[in-house]
Amino acid sequence: MVATLLEAKNISYGYEGMSQLIFDGLSFTVQDGEFVTLVGPSGCGKTTLLHILAGLITDFSGNILLDGMEVERLGKISLMPQQDLLLPWRTVLENGSLPLEIKGLTKMDAQKQARQILIQFGLAGFENVYPHQLSGGMRQRVAFLRSILTGNKIFLLDEPFSALDALTRLKMQEWLLNMWQKFKPTIIFITHDVEEAVFLAQRVFLLSPPPNKKIIEYPVPFFYPRSRSLLGNENFVKLRQEILAGLSTGE
Ligand SMILES: Nc1ncnc2c1ncn2[C@@H]1O[C@H](COP(=O)(O)OP(=O)(O)OP(=O)(O)O)[C@@H](O)[C@H]1O
Ligand SMILES: [Mg+2]
Repeated sequence: MVATLLEAKNISYGYEGMSQLIFDGLSFTVQDGEFVTLVGPSGCGKTTLLHILAGLITDFSGNILLDGMEVERLGKISLMPQQDLLLPWRTVLENGSLPLEIKGLTKMDAQKQARQILIQFGLAGFENVYPHQLSGGMRQRVAFLRSILTGNKIFLLDEPFSALDALTRLKMQEWLLNMWQKFKPTIIFITHDVEEAVFLAQRVFLLSPPPNKKIIEYPVPFFYPRSRSLLGNENFVKLRQEILAGLSTGE
C-alpha cells in the first residue's frame, strides 16, 4: 500500500525584503518511496522549497507533516546541495562512513559498513582516494552514499548532475535509478533538464515564476527499470513537450 510520507499544506514564504511571496499557499504530498522531480524556471524557488522541506528555513507559514506528524525535520531529511560538500581531507571511505561515526559507531565498525555499500555503489577500489582525485560523477556517488548511510528516508537533491558532461550524466541517471530501486528512498530531485526529469520520476512537479500558488503535477506512466530507448517513445516525447510548454508559458 502506498502511504503519504511528506505532506506540505498551505506553504507561504518570501525572503525578507522581497516585494512578493515566492510561495503563496502551496500544497502537495509525496508518497513513501516515491521519486519526484522538480522543474521550473531559474529563480522560481526550487532550492528555497528544498530548504523549507529540509528544515533549514523555518519562518514560513503553513505545515509540513512527516508520516502525518509535524516534527523537527532538520537531520531527518537529507539535503544534497549542488556542491557535494565532501570533506577534502577525508578519503572516500572516511567520507562515506562519517554519518555512521556521527551516530556513534566506532570508526572501525563504521568503515566496515561503509565498505560494503561502496561496492554496491560502484566505488570498490577507491576507498583510499581523496575527493579531489575523483571525477564529478564519482563524487556524486560518494555524496549520495553518505546520504544513504544517514538512514534517512527522504533525499532532496539539488541539481546533482548539472555539472556533469552529457555521457556521465546519462550513466549517473541510470545509476541513481538502480540505487533507488535497491534502497527505495523517497527522492525529490531538482533539475533544469525536462528530459532528465521525465526519465527519472514517477511524477514531475512544475513550479512557475513567483508567486507560486500551486504546483502542476505530471504523472509519468512508465514502468521501471527504464532504459534509454524510452527517450524516443512517442508518449515520452509528448509528455516532455507538454512540460516544456508549461515551463515556457509559466502556467
Ligand atoms: N538567501 C536568500 N535571501 C534572499 N533572497 C534569496 C535567497 N535565496 C534565494 N533568494 C531569491 O529567492 C528566489 C528563489 O530562489 P531559488 O534559489 O529558490 O531559485 P531556484 O528555482 O532554485 O533557481 P535556480 O534554478 O537558478 O537554482 C530568487 O529570486 C532568489 O534571488
Ligand atoms: Mg536552485
